[in-house]
Amino acid sequence: MNTTVCPRPMPGFRRDHTAITAETGNDRNPVAERHRRLDRLWMSCSSVHIRYGTTEDAEAVCDLAGQLAQSFPFSKARFHDSYAAVLSTDDACLLIAADSDGVLGYLLGVKHRTFYANGPVAWVEEILVRAEARGRGIGRALMQALERWAAQRNCALSALATRRAAPFYLALGYEESATYLRKVLPTRELP
Ligand SMILES: CC(C)(COP(=O)(O)OP(=O)(O)OC[C@H]1O[C@@H](n2cnc3c(N)ncnc32)[C@H](O)[C@@H]1OP(=O)(O)O)[C@@H](O)C(=O)NCCC(=O)NCCS
Repeated sequence: MNTTVCPRPMPGFRRDHTAITAETGNDRNPVAERHRRLDRLWMSCSSVHIRYGTTEDAEAVCDLAGQLAQSFPFSKARFHDSYAAVLSTDDACLLIAADSDGVLGYLLGVKHRTFYANGPVAWVEEILVRAEARGRGIGRALMQALERWAAQRNCALSALATRRAAPFYLALGYEESATYLRKVLPTRELP
């Protein structure tokens, strides 16, 4: 992924980053067709575009990521370390939703290898849309862009864990599948 200025368009998006909404015309799934209709409606009345994140987005994403953090005290220093690492690996996908006023939301996804799914799985780590921009289809557009990124990398599925946003993912066709367990490890020292 080119992560400097004006990265290549997302799969399914044109070079100006507007969505190509009819790229899977053979798919007659009624749910997918409804989503495509919503895509077209949304794109026709919105100046928001989805693109890959760049180094120039670091401060805006840092501001949004700080709003998302709940389990850990947010560390700007750690954020900037992680941000540079994310931009430098092909297995991470940082997506930005922006309009002419700036960044409205972001999604961080990763691809990891599995045996059980006969190949890689895309995992949505973080997604956040600015409070004043919610309810306009931006979260959906970010998730669809992640799914296109994942499909291009032969991921068998897209998955995530959530505490507060299950209705959003259910509206996008996700289904409950497992219980999320975790153990906070004792070795984290914040700067
Ligand atoms: C969750 C979040 C990313 C959704 O972004 P958004 O831009 O408001 O979502 P959209 O407008 O694209 O909504 C897409 C669909 O989800 C539904 N939806 C979104 N939020 C919902 C909610 N809280 N409850 C029920 N449905 C919801 C919408 O109604 C819409 O469905 P429709 O197209 O069938 O009408 C946004 O609310 C957010 O940033 N929340 C705070 C951070 C957060 O919780 N992130 C998830 C961590 S796992």
